[in-house]
Amino acid sequence: MNQCIAILDFGSQYAQLIARRVRENRVFSRLVSPTISPAELREMNAAGLIFSGGPASVYEQSAPRCDPGLLELGLPVLGICYGMQVTCQLLGAHVEAAPAREYGRAKLDIIEPAGLMGRINSPAGVWMSHGDMVHTLPEEFIPLARTANCPIAAVRHRDRPVFGVQFHPEVTHTACGSQLLRNFLYDICGCSGDWEMGNFIAGAVAEVRQRVGPEDRVICGLSGGVDSSVTAALIHEAIGDRLVCIFVDNGVLRKGEAALVESTFRDHFRIDLRVDRAADRFLAQLAGVVEPQEKRRRIGHEFIRVFERHARTVPGARFLAQGTLYPDVIESGHGYSGHAANIKLHHNVGGLPADLDFELIEPLRDLFKDEVRLAGEHLGLPAEIIWRHPFPGPGLAVRIIGEVTAERVALLQSVDEIVIDEIRAAGWYRKIGQAFAVLLPISTVGVMGDGRSYEGQHVVALRFVETADFMTADWVHIDYEVLGRISTRIMNEVPGVNRVVYDVSSKPPSTIEWE
Ligand code: XMP
Repeated sequence: MNQCIAILDFGSQYAQLIARRVRENRVFSRLVSPTISPAELREMNAAGLIFSGGPASVYEQSAPRCDPGLLELGLPVLGICYGMQVTCQLLGAHVEAAPAREYGRAKLDIIEPAGLMGRINSPAGVWMSHGDMVHTLPEEFIPLARTANCPIAAVRHRDRPVFGVQFHPEVTHTACGSQLLRNFLYDICGCSGDWEMGNFIAGAVAEVRQRVGPEDRVICGLSGGVDSSVTAALIHEAIGDRLVCIFVDNGVLRKGEAALVESTFRDHFRIDLRVDRAADRFLAQLAGVVEPQEKRRRIGHEFIRVFERHARTVPGARFLAQGTLYPDVIESGHGYSGHAANIKLHHNVGGLPADLDFELIEPLRDLFKDEVRLAGEHLGLPAEIIWRHPFPGPGLAVRIIGEVTAERVALLQSVDEIVIDEIRAAGWYRKIGQAFAVLLPISTVGVMGDGRSYEGQHVVALRFVETADFMTADWVHIDYEVLGRISTRIMNEVPGVNRVVYDVSSKPPSTIEWE
């Protein structure tokens, strides 16, 4: 079991960021509820605790607090912002509203340049975001640093390994933040840096082998996306041909998608892959449907029918593998509160009938997306799969505005292929969160050769967004040259398109997809 830093999440917008920063320093970390008990922490093999920031004020009645017993465990504690205020208050300090709220950059003068503040040059640029501050300290505390507006900007306890910083070491604007976290993790918590992808995979493989008996089989729905691909590769590493993957070609995938999945998983990994070419069934379901949610509903239902039919043909199928990631686990409640209770089912398999009674296997549930990609590299997946942009479950059906027909799908597939080709060739693919084209249900007038074009000529919109988490997004300020090349190729190579436009809307108020 890896050493672990438990991060008590007091509601900070940066809580996940803290977890990632710790992991970047090769120490495993997990967000936990502030109500966690000392006994639960011991079970986690915690080497130290970080108390996150949060929006409340510690002197409010309803402010989140933690069990004071956590400070009696002898484990090192680093309180950040609200986390510092809570920690110091529990140990007798007085916290009140700061005379001036402090947001943004501040200059930190270091009083004690050792321990937590070791190897950091003073003054240091730090990022502040607080309205309250520790006003007076009991004499067991020693101030470590100050800023102009915050005389107690960092502290340590005289006798216990308890530390606090009013600024945010986890954000990149705090340039010394990484050094401070390393000081905490390595010098204070005594971590050994054992969180390493190779070790993680070995551990996850061992766990799958232990759960899945010799007569059991695991079913995995492969979508071709990075999460399900890494899940399949990892489980295959653990149990070989007792893994059965099911790939449903619903007819609204990218061009060549089935071939890519087959060559990767069947030819290269030698996985038992069942491909269901069900395009006709799906397109029949979509005939005449223009309403986006209805498209989603029909595709979802049909997927379940097809998946179920395959699943029933696999003898001994006891487990269903899913590519649930850590942010999904966090989103659906705190990660450290039992294993199965908080799982958010993947939209594709959430509706399987109750008599298909699977136990879930989710080997990636502790990983962030970038860690999943790293795991994919370790497992030997091709870069084309590891670095793919996300693709929605309902596929091109929600990028074809209006009715979905085989002809319109084929047109959009050709456009999509050109878009992705050109973005890759120009070196933009990895700088973009998601890039795609949308087929609009309108005709506009054009001129081709010497004639006017109108009937049967369509408009295609290009949508390229950059985003950290797909919750908010901005349109990509891509080179005009690249846009121009894409547009020219689409018009020359795809009959039926005589106009290309670029979408310059952010999310919010728009969404990423058009439907
Ligand atoms: P929106 O359009 O809501 O998209 O800004 C955010 C992210 O979610 C993807 N998306 C979907 N994924 N089923 C999926 O599996 C869906 O129905 C669906 N709708 C949107 C979208 O591609 C983007 O990455």
